[in-house]
Amino acid sequence: MCGIVGYIGFQNAAEVILEGLRRLEYRGYDSAGIAIAGRDSIQVVRSVGKLQNLSAKLQECPLMGNMGIGHTRWATHGEPSERNAHPHLDCTRQIVVIHNGIVENYRALKQELINQGHVFQSETDSEVIVHLLEEMWRGQSEQDLISVTAQALTRLEGAHAILIMSSLFPNFLLAARLGNAGGIAIGRGEHEMYCASDIPAILPHTREMVFLETGEIARIDSSGYQCFSLTGGPVTKETFRIPWDPVSAARGHYTHFMQKEIYEQPEFLTDTLRNRLNFENSEIVLEQFPFSDQALNALEKITIVACGTSYYAGLVGKYLIEELARIPVEVDYASEFRYRQPLIGPESMIVAISQSGETVDTLAAIDEARQKQALLSAIVNVPGSQISRICTGLIFMHAGPEIGVASTKAFSCTLVDLFLLGFYLGQKRGTLAQERRTALLEQLIRLPKLVSDVLELDSAIKELAAQYYEASDFLYLGRGINYPIALEGAHKLKEISYIHAEGCPAGEMKHGINALIDRHLPVVTIATHDRLYHKMLSNIQQVHARDAIIIALVSQGESEISKFARHVLELPDLGHLLNPILNVVPLQLLAYYIALKRGCDIDQPRNLAKSVTVE
Ligand code: F6R
Repeated sequence: MCGIVGYIGFQNAAEVILEGLRRLEYRGYDSAGIAIAGRDSIQVVRSVGKLQNLSAKLQECPLMGNMGIGHTRWATHGEPSERNAHPHLDCTRQIVVIHNGIVENYRALKQELINQGHVFQSETDSEVIVHLLEEMWRGQSEQDLISVTAQALTRLEGAHAILIMSSLFPNFLLAARLGNAGGIAIGRGEHEMYCASDIPAILPHTREMVFLETGEIARIDSSGYQCFSLTGGPVTKETFRIPWDPVSAARGHYTHFMQKEIYEQPEFLTDTLRNRLNFENSEIVLEQFPFSDQALNALEKITIVACGTSYYAGLVGKYLIEELARIPVEVDYASEFRYRQPLIGPESMIVAISQSGETVDTLAAIDEARQKQALLSAIVNVPGSQISRICTGLIFMHAGPEIGVASTKAFSCTLVDLFLLGFYLGQKRGTLAQERRTALLEQLIRLPKLVSDVLELDSAIKELAAQYYEASDFLYLGRGINYPIALEGAHKLKEISYIHAEGCPAGEMKHGINALIDRHLPVVTIATHDRLYHKMLSNIQQVHARDAIIIALVSQGESEISKFARHVLELPDLGHLLNPILNVVPLQLLAYYIALKRGCDIDQPRNLAKSVTVE
C-alpha cells in the first residue's frame, strides 16, 4: 500500500519526509522517492527497493529546502523501477505529483495528453495527473488555481489521494482526496505543517489533525491550511486531537476499528489488485502460485475449506470459480472436513481461506488434504502465518492488519482473490476468451471506486439502524451468488449486535422460513441486477404479502422493487460476478450501526476471538 508524506515549514524537508516514510514501511512498498522545492526548481530523488537505498542517494546528493513531498510506491501499472517511482514531474519540471489510487481512465487521458505534445517518462497511470495539471494550469493565475486543479482532478476516474507541489507556486502544497484510495491527514505544528496518508507518519510531530474527506482539496502553507470542496466553495473542518497511545492513534478519527476497516476497503481492494492485472494480454498474474499448466489442466475438482466469514467467502468462490474456470467446486466447513472421510486426491486442489492463517480447524483440513496428496493452496491475509508456510500456492488478501474481531475488509479482499483465482484458472484452462477477459478486467479495475461510492450510503444506513435496532430477529434473503452474501450479512449482525439473524436462499422460504415472517420482522433482501433478479422480485412480493419490513438492496435506477420494499438502498451495477463485493458493504454498515445503537462492544464482541487456535 503506497505511503504519502508532505512537509512545509522551516526544517530540512527531506529529513522530515524520509523519517515519515520510514514509519509507513509496514504498509509495504517496492520503490520510493522524494521531491523538494528549491529556490526556483524542483529536485527529485527516487530509488528502487528499501528506503535505505533512497537514504544513501540523499546522502550522496542532499536535497535542501523547506517544502517537499515523498512517497513509497507499491506498483500497479508498470514494474517497480526508478522511473516508475513517484514523485512524477511534468514536461517543464515545474510541477510534481505523488498519488495513491488507480486512474481508471488513464489510457484515454494519456493518449489525449500525448496528442497535445506531452512526453511521458514512466509507465504509470499516476503520471497522467501531472501532465493534466501542466495542461490545465497553463496561463492561469494563482487565484484560479484551486478551481482549475479541481476541474483537472475531476477528470480522473477512480479513487485518489494526491499531493501536488510546484515551483510556480513555491509557498504552498495542494492535497486532494477523491473517493477512498486512502486518507490524507493534515497536521499542524508551530510555523510548520505536515500531511500524510497515515497518522503514524506525522504523529511524533503533531497531534492536532484534520482529515480530508472525499471531494476535498486543501491548500497548505507553513502557517495553516484552507480546505475547499472540489465542486466549489470553502469547507470548514473539524480538528481532531489524536491521543498518544498507539491503539487509539491507529484507530485515527474512527470510533471503532471495524468502522475504520469498513472504510478502508477501497484502499485495500486496490492493494489486492496491485501487480496482478496485465492489461496488455488481458491476463491475471498470481505471483506465488507455482503450479504447472499441466497440473492445473488436470484438476478435476477444487475443495474450499474455511470457517466463519471465510467460509461464506468460499461459498461465493464456488460461483466465481465454477463460472470462470468451469471446474466443480465444493465448499466445506474446515471443522467438518476431516471428519467426513472426504473424497480428495492428487486430482484435486484444496483452497484454504483464512484471514489469520492460524485457524486450527483450517490447518487440520489442510493436513488432511496433504495426506491425500491434493495440491495445497491458500488465500491468507497474514504473511508468515502457519497456513502461509505450509501451502504451496498462496494468494495474499493484502487487506492490511484487521483488528476488529468481525471480519470486513478481509472478506471483500478474499472475494477479489477468489475472482482472481477463477479468472487465472479460466485463462490457464482456456475457458475464458480474450474478449471476456478484457471486459472482466475493465470491470475489476472499477471496483475500489464503486465500493467508495457505496460507502456514501452511510447516513441512510445509520437511519435504518436507528429504526430497527430493537428488533429481536432479522432475516437476510439472496439468490445465487448473493445467497452467501445474505449469510454473511446475518453473520455480521449476530456477531456484533447479538440479534438473532438468519440468511436464507430466497427460493427456500416457502419450505419453512415463511413461518417466521410477520409484520415485526425486518427482512433484508439482496436484489441487485443479475439473471435471478425476476425470481428475487417475486420472492420479495411474497414477503410483502406477509407484511414484513423489507429493506431492499437494488441496482441504481430500479423502480419495480420500491413498490414492495419499505426501504431501498441503491447500489452501482458492476456485473453479476463483482456485485456481491459491493452488496456486502451496506450489510457491514447496517450491522455496525445497529450494534452501535445497542451499545455493544463492537471490536471485541462477547465470546469471540480474532484468531481461533483451539478446536
Ligand atoms: C467473522 C469472523 C470469524 C472468522 C473465522 C475464521 O467476522 O471473524 O467468523 O471468519 O473465525 O477466521 P480466519 O479467517 O482467520 O481463519
